[in-house]
Amino acid sequence: MLAIIGGSGLTQLASLDLIRREVVRTPYGEPSGALTFGRLCSQPVVFLARHGYGHTIPPHRVNYQANLWALQQAQVDAIISVASVGGIRADLCPGTLIVPDQIIDYTWGRKSTFHENSDEPVVHIDFTEPYDEAIRQRILKAGLKAGETIIDGAVYAATQGPRLETAAEINRLERDGADVVGMTGMPEAALARELGIPYAAINVVANFAAGRASSASGICFDSIDAVLRDAMGRVRGVLDHICES
Ligand code: HPA
Repeated sequence: MLAIIGGSGLTQLASLDLIRREVVRTPYGEPSGALTFGRLCSQPVVFLARHGYGHTIPPHRVNYQANLWALQQAQVDAIISVASVGGIRADLCPGTLIVPDQIIDYTWGRKSTFHENSDEPVVHIDFTEPYDEAIRQRILKAGLKAGETIIDGAVYAATQGPRLETAAEINRLERDGADVVGMTGMPEAALARELGIPYAAINVVANFAAGRASSASGICFDSIDAVLRDAMGRVRGVLDHICES
């Protein structure tokens, strides 16, 4: 079964034929919300809204451990994360859809491993390639079928939030090699890898990153809502083809 973790702008999937909702308890506390089981193009799918169904959980307070554990309990065999980002690279303007292929982690203080009990051996996962290539290709193929242009490959910088970055911070991320910036990609991807669940992401560029818009001096929040509404509609269109790809 495929899992979809929806981010800002994607708190539900309209095309999901709802079967049931399930509140899952985990040793790590409460997930962001109930798991929503349903069918998407006749395949079983489970959906979870990362920030809660009322969008009340900020990026640094998301219980990533509980979310990933709950999805493992549901026996998912792949996870697609949908997350909005700021565009750093000049061609990644608002509305662009991207399947990233690398991550740089700038987050701190988040619980980023399932293996931290003192009576347990330390676990070092191989994270050279943080995203699962087969799932990445599946998303890209679904994009082709949906007639959507999706950029194949980008370096995702995960920042702590919840504030947006300064212009100098964005310049630093660019020097580091980052193409887009978001706040939820880590430790989600690493925890999925620890559990052995193939994981990949669709990033939606909501805004030019701080200091990168050519005209305005700051970030225009009104346009972010409109961009996300339109782009998440297109993401839903891609996901509608995911089971054929
Ligand atoms: N920075 C960090 N996270 C984001 C942004 C941004 O500009 N836009 C959407 N998520």
